[in-house]
Amino acid sequence: MGFIRILIELSLICMNPPRMSCLLAVWLAVVLSGIQAVDRSNFKTCIQSSFCKRMRDVVPGHSPYRALLETLELSNTRLTLQLINDNNKVRLLLELYRLQGNMTRLKINELKPLRPRFEVPDVLIADPPTEPLSLVSQDEGGVVLSLGADARHLVVSARPFRLDIVEGPHVLLSVNSRGLLAFEHQRPRKDTGLPYLNNNYTDLSGIGQLTYSVCLYPCLWCDKEEDQADMWEETFKSHTDSKPNGPTAISMDFSLPGVEHVYGIPEHAENLRLKTTDGHDPYRLYNLDVFQYELYNPMALYGSVPVLLSHSTQRTMGIFWLNAAETWVDISSKAAENTDSVQAPSKVAQTDVRWISESGIIDVFIMLGPKPTDVFAQYASLTGTQSFPPLFALGYHQCRWNYKDQEDVRSVDQGFDDHDIPYDFIWLDIEHADGKRYFTWDPAHFSQPREMLQGLVDKRRKMVAIVDPHIKVDSGYRVHKEIRSKNLYVKNKDGGDYEGWCWPGTSGYPDFTNPEMRSWWASMFAYDQYEGSMENLYIWNDMNEPSVFNGPEVTMHKDALHGSWEHRDIHNLYGLYVVRREGQRRKSLGLDPIIEVIPSSLSLCCGTGAVWTGDNAAEWSHLKISIPMCLSLGLVGISFCGADVGGFFKSPSSELLVRWYQTGAYQPFFRAHAHLDTPRREPWLFGPENTALIREAVRQRYALLPYWYLLFYKAHGTGQPVMRPLWVEYPEDVTTFTIDDEYLLGRDLLVHPVTDEGSKEVTVYLPGTGGVSVKLYYYHYLYSQFFSSIPVFQRGGSIIPRKNRIRRSSSCMEKDPYTLYVALSPQGTAEGELYIDDGHTFNYEQKKQFVHRRFIFADSTLSSSNISPDSQFSTASWVERVLILGAHKPSSVTLKTSGGSVASLEFDFDEATSVLTVHKPGVNAGADWTLLFQW
Ligand code: NOJ
Repeated sequence: MGFIRILIELSLICMNPPRMSCLLAVWLAVVLSGIQAVDRSNFKTCIQSSFCKRMRDVVPGHSPYRALLETLELSNTRLTLQLINDNNKVRLLLELYRLQGNMTRLKINELKPLRPRFEVPDVLIADPPTEPLSLVSQDEGGVVLSLGADARHLVVSARPFRLDIVEGPHVLLSVNSRGLLAFEHQRPRKDTGLPYLNNNYTDLSGIGQLTYSVCLYPCLWCDKEEDQADMWEETFKSHTDSKPNGPTAISMDFSLPGVEHVYGIPEHAENLRLKTTDGHDPYRLYNLDVFQYELYNPMALYGSVPVLLSHSTQRTMGIFWLNAAETWVDISSKAAENTDSVQAPSKVAQTDVRWISESGIIDVFIMLGPKPTDVFAQYASLTGTQSFPPLFALGYHQCRWNYKDQEDVRSVDQGFDDHDIPYDFIWLDIEHADGKRYFTWDPAHFSQPREMLQGLVDKRRKMVAIVDPHIKVDSGYRVHKEIRSKNLYVKNKDGGDYEGWCWPGTSGYPDFTNPEMRSWWASMFAYDQYEGSMENLYIWNDMNEPSVFNGPEVTMHKDALHGSWEHRDIHNLYGLYVVRREGQRRKSLGLDPIIEVIPSSLSLCCGTGAVWTGDNAAEWSHLKISIPMCLSLGLVGISFCGADVGGFFKSPSSELLVRWYQTGAYQPFFRAHAHLDTPRREPWLFGPENTALIREAVRQRYALLPYWYLLFYKAHGTGQPVMRPLWVEYPEDVTTFTIDDEYLLGRDLLVHPVTDEGSKEVTVYLPGTGGVSVKLYYYHYLYSQFFSSIPVFQRGGSIIPRKNRIRRSSSCMEKDPYTLYVALSPQGTAEGELYIDDGHTFNYEQKKQFVHRRFIFADSTLSSSNISPDSQFSTASWVERVLILGAHKPSSVTLKTSGGSVASLEFDFDEATSVLTVHKPGVNAGADWTLLFQW
């Protein structure tokens, strides 16, 4: 949040009613708290984050760690081994697991910690199933363990400690081969002796309260290491972090021989392929509310997903660093020398990755692929998949900070009808609530919320209202009173309720890590608790970093307390906990739960609703970067991503706005949004020609909703991203490895949005064509004017269902018929799927109520068959048309139904485009049928 913005916002609070003392307090508080003009200097560099600096100062090649082989214990599925740091004699405990699905887990903790270290709960969906680990050989140099098939082994070297995962003669990945393992053991503070108090440590999983007896024994390892600056207290700007537990950082290096391309670790405003960080700051993972973020740099943004993918023509792999504290990731690339413990030294490309976190333990999952799809499935098996959104969430969303009042909402809604543009949701930002007291409505401007919502129900449309996680400290505000009386606020280091500045002024921050808080919060979304709500109201969660305007780096103090854990330990988890409500509100109506949360903080894992790329700007560069930003999120299980269409800050030119709609229509989360201070920009305010172009883009989105829904169904089932980089589908085509201005939706649609001002043409790379594009990709829409076109291509060999009768919202199109787009491969074949259910309940899962069809075109026959014979759902939709792209003119087309009827169908053939249109097969979309073509 910007200095100016904060001042304006807080000042507005004091003006209503005008209070001079309040105004003075705001200005004083802001000045004293050190918030200055927003620029990079408000956020730490590695050197300003003392643990990052200490860890980065560890030089490669001098690892003090040695594996004590005599301590090795091997059970069926787990190996444990002590490591010793020869400099200070502190011992660590290493645990190794072979996990099902071609993964290895590695954990390192202090053998005898002074106090328990934080281990991330609630992210893994279950204890990952293990597989037997067996000893292959052992000598004084180390041990070799079998990792099952393909001659895969885990080699543990003792001196210095190092791990290599090898397959036959090849090293796939090495751990600590550069000697950068570092583990800051807990220690008494030298000047004060032993400051540790007995304490209770809350088990965040909610299973129960665990009590650890805290060790008060003296320093057993006779620590010779000197305390360094900032180990026990650290000041950044005007904020001092009291660091009562001293230094607790951890670091580990991973080497990837043969790898030149790495991806992932969102969220950064960065290219898809990560850059080396030599001579620069590492990529930072620390959820922060960054005002007008800069592009192409490694600064932290709103969310953090500590998963890095590597890809080469040989193999795709992943490293999942399960840690919720502030984390930095260094990447370097070089020709490798002496990295291969099995073979003679070789000179091949190599990428080295070093992870550094402020606290917690080392807990790493190495996902061995080998294909991109395998890595997605492996990660999904650990943390779950993208939630399956209701169909209407995939429509268009109209948002603005803020629609002023009910009349404004009504007239914007009407504007869509007047201009024949479909939309599903209109959003209300923070001004809709009474003084930013969430769960309430501003009495002057939104006095009749139910009436307003009913107006939308009548048009089969919906509304989203914002509910932020900071709570106005106001003894007359029920939400605050209850959280305070239940003692559920985050505490400051001295034990009082933690307070900070946010939109409502002084605010408390609920401790969402506490299951009691989460369950109380969920109960607030029941219709009888959230006054004025009804079944077409959905929720937007924002500011979950958490955003604290006067906190260090605009977030919470690290020494604030969540039970017995410091905020330092859980920071990147906070946003995840805010949205863990699991749709209780829908249950209260007797309906199945549906996804209703839109979090801004991504926090480690998936399973959330939609996310957006934050406060971008109306600039071409921001339009362009929306592509790699969403691709990076998709690679780590967060498919439902979009960027504020039009740009949040500033005002787009009409050309930029049109191009943004054309891009957004082909990104998963399609929402226009704008800052409070920007001029209005509803789609019809830029002249009839631009309105028409925007209308066309939105209509294309609605026509393709059946395909979007299928892709999300599959993403939910398998973990495969909806929006994917080209290399995911063409893993051996090296050219695709660095492309991030075009992408695939599923396997079959290739999109190259126009993201440069004044473009008259774009160059599109069509992979797999070997330079011959004929029949391998079909241009999806044919228009004469370049500005009206969106470069979208359908893969030859695919079949895509569309609904071409566009209505005012997706719900209005529920029963409409389908048109099948059959794009033939050079061999004259094609294949595709259709998925239909009721669009919003979990009946597809619980009662198997869905239609899932496979279409196959081969041997001049197009057939529809049931993929899932035990499913059951009756749909009113039918097949109204079939388009065969790349066809010849047939002499006849015959339909055969499962009931045995046979009919001759009418058709048209366009010589110029080679498109054959078959009219009115008229069959139900859930039925078996066949079309026979006579050429
Ligand atoms: C920050 C969000 O990113 C933005 O979308 C929203 O409009 C403001 N907060 C105000 O709620």
